[in-house]
Amino acid sequence: MRIFKGITVILPFKWPKIFDGPGSSLELCRYIANQGHKKILLVTDSMLAKLGLLDAMQVELEKQGITVVIYDGVMPDPTIAQIEAGVSVLKDNNCKAILAVGGGSSIDAAKVIAARGKSDKSIINMAGLFKIYFSGTLPLYAVPTTAGTGSEVTIAAVVSDPKQKRKLPIIDLKLMPVAAALDGELMTGLPAHITAATGMDALTHAVESYISRNALKHTDVKAIEATQLIMANLVTAVTDGSNVAARQAMVRASNLAGMAFTQAGVGYVHAIAHNFGALYHTPHGVANAIVMPYVLDYSKSSCTLRLADLAKACNIGLADANNANNEQLAEAFIQRIREMKHKFNIPTKLAALQRKDIPQIAAAALKEARFTYAVPRYMNKATCENLISQMLVE
Ligand SMILES: NC(=O)c1ccc[n+]([C@@H]2O[C@H](COP(=O)([O-])OP(=O)(O)OC[C@H]3O[C@@H](n4cnc5c(N)ncnc54)[C@H](O)[C@@H]3O)[C@@H](O)[C@H]2O)c1
Ligand SMILES: [Fe+2]
Repeated sequence: MRIFKGITVILPFKWPKIFDGPGSSLELCRYIANQGHKKILLVTDSMLAKLGLLDAMQVELEKQGITVVIYDGVMPDPTIAQIEAGVSVLKDNNCKAILAVGGGSSIDAAKVIAARGKSDKSIINMAGLFKIYFSGTLPLYAVPTTAGTGSEVTIAAVVSDPKQKRKLPIIDLKLMPVAAALDGELMTGLPAHITAATGMDALTHAVESYISRNALKHTDVKAIEATQLIMANLVTAVTDGSNVAARQAMVRASNLAGMAFTQAGVGYVHAIAHNFGALYHTPHGVANAIVMPYVLDYSKSSCTLRLADLAKACNIGLADANNANNEQLAEAFIQRIREMKHKFNIPTKLAALQRKDIPQIAAAALKEARFTYAVPRYMNKATCENLISQMLVE
């Protein structure tokens, strides 16, 4: 794990150029034109196309002399087949650059299409660490329309393999977009339940990167600011979706959290959530929100100070005179997460979970976490199975 930390410190991350603020998606379009592209593949999902979220960007790109080819076949948790269909559209139209507009699913699909545009390697063979480093990717630009994954600043793409009922992470520096726009105006129509779930995903990134043993000074600064922004704005973004200031704060938070976890990593919340998400199709943010309090309860004894830091930074638990010590502040922070979930109607247990699946989920989660997630307190298989069984509805 120390070696991994050393690697993340020396890796030559090239962060995207960020355009930040309402309307910044159009600034990004002008920037794309300045890069000399004449044709671009816009990768998205059909829902966003129907909502008209692409219209202003398409008009701006065309005004700048760029031909826009749209592939809108991405669905939540994109599959290999959906990505390959996008690769065919890319090749048939001879596009040499890609603009992803959408949630993590569209951005991740676009990342892999960008990689396939430069390589004939199968997607299954791209899964893992640094499998596309030498072939590279086509230039990729991103406009997130959810405030959750931070995929616009991560070197990861998650692909679903429905045949094997698993999620394949592809991790490579080359998956980093060239530039991205954080435009909260595009999120005002995001339904409340998706706002809540994606916001909880961003919170999970911030918290898991802050309690990671691979955390660095600058990832700490980003994780704390992201946690503060989420604690101050997520409830407003969920209950008053048209509040652009809250939307802008949330997309900034998910971006900061994305940068934090790109270097510090995530932890068991993601490891467990990914693996039951692949089995039961639980949306990624909901899965994380269900698992997070259980994993934090388990980890608390090894990261009390870190959780107390987050509580203090967000002014949680301080007003209560009984919260005199760090243990109590750490507990107050976890309790706040439980209360947020309750407010958002996110369940505490996983209705789809079946006892017979627990050994398989635990084994896959531990395999995912091993050597990659520098968690504060390690689990063995029995502990992990026991933790997952607490989520059974019985
Ligand atoms: N690459 C990474 O670093 C990373 C990190 C975390 C998660 N992920 C992956 O990202 C995916 C989840 O992404 P997500 O949570 O952003 O959701 P998503 O992209 O799957 O979108 C969820 C739903 O929201 C709708 N939607 C999106 N934006 C909208 C808007 N502005 N208005 C109205 N509807 C809108 C979409 O049409 C879709 O139906 C998963 O596959 C997950 O594994 C990737
Ligand atoms: Fe996530």
